[in-house]
Amino acid sequence: MKKLEEYVRSIPDFPEKGIIFRDVTSVLQDADGLHLAINEMDKCLEGIDYDVVVGPESRGFIFGVPIAYNNHKAFVPVRKKGKLPCETISCDYDLEYGKATIEMHKDSIKPGQKVVIIDDLIATGGTTEAIIKLVEELGGVVVKVVFLMELKGLKGREKLNGYDIDAVIQYEGN
Ligand code: PRP
Ligand code: MG
Repeated sequence: MKKLEEYVRSIPDFPEKGIIFRDVTSVLQDADGLHLAINEMDKCLEGIDYDVVVGPESRGFIFGVPIAYNNHKAFVPVRKKGKLPCETISCDYDLEYGKATIEMHKDSIKPGQKVVIIDDLIATGGTTEAIIKLVEELGGVVVKVVFLMELKGLKGREKLNGYDIDAVIQYEGN
């Protein structure tokens, strides 16, 4: 059986020159790849006591929901601006290439709930930093953050000091 990292396809100069895009579709489109990815991320949660999985649109949904389902936890989506129908809180943040705003429903996390954040990738850490701000504004406690992949060269972890972070696959560059 292939190793998980062998399922990730790397595309040079996408979406901009100088960026190597780590493509998760090549993991997802293979039954063994998908299975390995979810299982390896799940292993990072062994021994963690939590109530809710929070995942950002859109790739965070792909990995967050199966992990929540496997562990019989709730799933709370963080969405891009303008998609959620009820009262929201929002946060602006910078991406590796561009800017964005994310939102959560005000009633999605109850004060004191223990939250695990799941996403496919940490690059600059801007997305996760913004999610943590929203979760904490709602009174949630972030107990763990798990990524499938980390681009270590972009030093995203430095934005997330003090939080318990795991990434299944680590790339030295960006
Ligand atoms: C990508 C990726 C992470 C984020 C990582 O999402 O899925 O969520 O960027 O970058 P950061 O650590 O620099 O914040 P993107 O916003 O491109 O949207 P998508 O998930 O909808 O593809
Ligand atoms: Mg994303």
